Amino acid sequence: MGSAAAADSPPPRAPRWYARPAAREWTCAPVDPAARAFHRGLPGYAPTPLVELPSLAAEFDLGRVFVKDESARLGLPAFKALGAFWAVHRILDGRPGPGPTLITATDGNHGRAVARAARLAGRPARIFTPDGVHPAAVAAIAAEGAEVVPVPGSYDEAVLRAAREAELPDTALVQDTSWPGYEEVPGRIVEGYATLCAEIDEQLAVAGAGTPALVAVPVGVGSLAQAVVTHYRGTHTARPTTHRPAHPAGGGAAPTALLAVEPEAAPCLLESLLHGAPVTVDTGRTVMAGLNCGTVSALAWPYLSAGIDAAVSVTDAAATRAAADLATLGLPAGPCGAAALAGLRTALTGPGASDRRARLGLGADAVVVLLSTEGPEANPHGERAESAGHAEHAEGTENVERARRAD
Ligand SMILES: Cc1ncc(COP(=O)(O)O)c(C=O)c1O
Repeated sequence: MGSAAAADSPPPRAPRWYARPAAREWTCAPVDPAARAFHRGLPGYAPTPLVELPSLAAEFDLGRVFVKDESARLGLPAFKALGAFWAVHRILDGRPGPGPTLITATDGNHGRAVARAARLAGRPARIFTPDGVHPAAVAAIAAEGAEVVPVPGSYDEAVLRAAREAELPDTALVQDTSWPGYEEVPGRIVEGYATLCAEIDEQLAVAGAGTPALVAVPVGVGSLAQAVVTHYRGTHTARPTTHRPAHPAGGGAAPTALLAVEPEAAPCLLESLLHGAPVTVDTGRTVMAGLNCGTVSALAWPYLSAGIDAAVSVTDAAATRAAADLATLGLPAGPCGAAALAGLRTALTGPGASDRRARLGLGADAVVVLLSTEGPEANPHGERAESAGHAEHAEGTENVERARRAD
């Protein structure tokens, strides 16, 4: 039976893939350090762990592999508070209460971070959630005291709905994606995300690892990737020296390659890069709920099109396997967080792997950093969660309804 099934399974196929190594030479203005100073002053702030996993280095024939573990960031199970807290701080600065009502659409993590920021500031929050957000993630937003408004449709539709709602008086939109005319707040959010890159610099220096050869970043609308591009391509960013071979162009460290990873169900950046201009893709269902976005942030696009040098899409099965692998290695990752490992594995294995490896410029001494952007609690999609899906759905829905009644 087993061999018959194996014979029936389709041959491995090359992944959908984009590469433009010249992007490593692109530069931009550096990150504004104000957000980092703000984060340092927050109660409970501490750099999240950067964990070295030698078994992954051995698996992929790399020098060293590190995973930035964002499963516990400022009291929440994803990196998103870095952006939301800084943006909300700037919005509320000099604005006495009780309003404005903070509004956003979310795939889960960002909405919870905005709801937490609102609760800490004593302001109301109204959070719009599309189809496909795990009921436990919805319940966690409601538990912050926010009003949760389900939107029957995609993430992009929820973003539109939230933007319309924010036309009401005494509201403020805290959206982590941008469109023409709505740039300031998403820009703050990007500034906030860059804190995790600054932490990585310091942690790699302590580990004696220097500048990474590659950073793999999960992408939804691309704001996190924009922060990563700004950090690694920012011209005035002081970085430690590297143990990697000198840049072929002469002098100093070779620039870091940046690999964007998206679900096959929502590859808006990959398709836009391949197309050479932003395109909106139809999104499907994916366990990587936080990455289930159909349109790249307008603010991010110029940075990503110029500064990202590789992109790949991954299957749900690959993300689920990567999350299980990381759990076995003691690193708690939800499916979006594990997408970075899934992307590395998809790029470095299977048909065409040696060409992709060469395009990424990865030697056997390369230092690679994977951004694991959420813990399993943030987004408990996947086989275990799915088997308990009905009970969790009932419980989550009840909590949302309870929270709405309480308003
Ligand atoms: C856990 C997680 N990782 C990565 C991302 C991607 O961030 P961005 O939408 O800025 O690309 C998100 C976005 O919600 C997320 O929740």
